[in-house]
Amino acid sequence: MRIAIVTGASSGLGREYAKLLDKEGMDEIWLIARRENRLLELAGEIAAKTRIFPLDLISESTTRQIAEILKQEQPSVRFLIHAAGFGKIGSEEDITEVDIARMIDLNCRAAVLMTHLAIPYMGEKSHILQICSCSAFQPIPYLNVYAATKSFLLHYSRALAVELSPKGIAVSAVCPYWIKDTEFIPIAQNTKNSTYIKGFPFAGTQAAIAAKSFASAKKGKTVITPDAISTLHRFITSILPHQWLMAASKWFHGHGGK
Ligand SMILES: NC(=O)c1ccc[n+]([C@@H]2O[C@H](COP(=O)([O-])OP(=O)(O)OC[C@H]3O[C@@H](n4cnc5c(N)ncnc54)[C@H](OP(=O)(O)O)[C@@H]3O)[C@@H](O)[C@H]2O)c1
Repeated sequence: MRIAIVTGASSGLGREYAKLLDKEGMDEIWLIARRENRLLELAGEIAAKTRIFPLDLISESTTRQIAEILKQEQPSVRFLIHAAGFGKIGSEEDITEVDIARMIDLNCRAAVLMTHLAIPYMGEKSHILQICSCSAFQPIPYLNVYAATKSFLLHYSRALAVELSPKGIAVSAVCPYWIKDTEFIPIAQNTKNSTYIKGFPFAGTQAAIAAKSFASAKKGKTVITPDAISTLHRFITSILPHQWLMAASKWFHGHGGK
């Protein structure tokens, strides 16, 4: 049985990737996120057979449950797309301990554990897509924990790509700039003070970012910058000192603060 697994499928990029996977001839698409109603709605829009997992990826029982199902069914996992993730904008004092812990647990721990569980069921022409962010390319003040989680995921993905290449498994780190039409920005702004990052100029759209990054991942590209700003950001961060760029990012976002 050829399957694709998508985390964060109830909204935004994950939802778009699930729709793109519908054209890939999978026997089943497994959809994971917490909101069951959203997953059911998406399943109704997909022609391929789907399986709904309304689960919190931060919970240890979720990974145990997925591990058990994989062991029982021994599927061939052709795609694993980890799109579940969230960020929080604010200074150190504006973000709660709960949000800090959950960001690290979802963006890093859950991404790595889901990947670790899926790899034994992957082989030639399988693809892993880790949805990172261009914030992975440098430290970002007022987005510090989130950017650091994405940096972790980018480094993990690049190293894993080298390790898995002899098995024919492609690993891609997708690193977009802001996307305006997902739930990400309102969730990120929901802190004590998110005015440090005021504007999101040149933000992309979920459909365009998902389509472009999915096409690049299928070609086996390891680091994917699916829009002009993230491509420029990657280049600039490779040539300029990060100290300058941290100051510039504060200026770019409108100086911020209360
Ligand atoms: N939008 C941007 O500006 C932007 C830019 C660069 C990178 N990214 C990255 O792109 C990825 C997708 O984000 P998006 O923009 O599509 O945002 P989104 O619309 O908020 O989607 C996030 C998804 O993650 C799921 N999720 C959140 N917490 C979860 C948990 N504990 N367990 C299981 N699922 C959980 C959500 O579903 P439930 O709430 O139903 O669980 C939702 O389906 C994220 O990793 C984000 O960091 C986004």
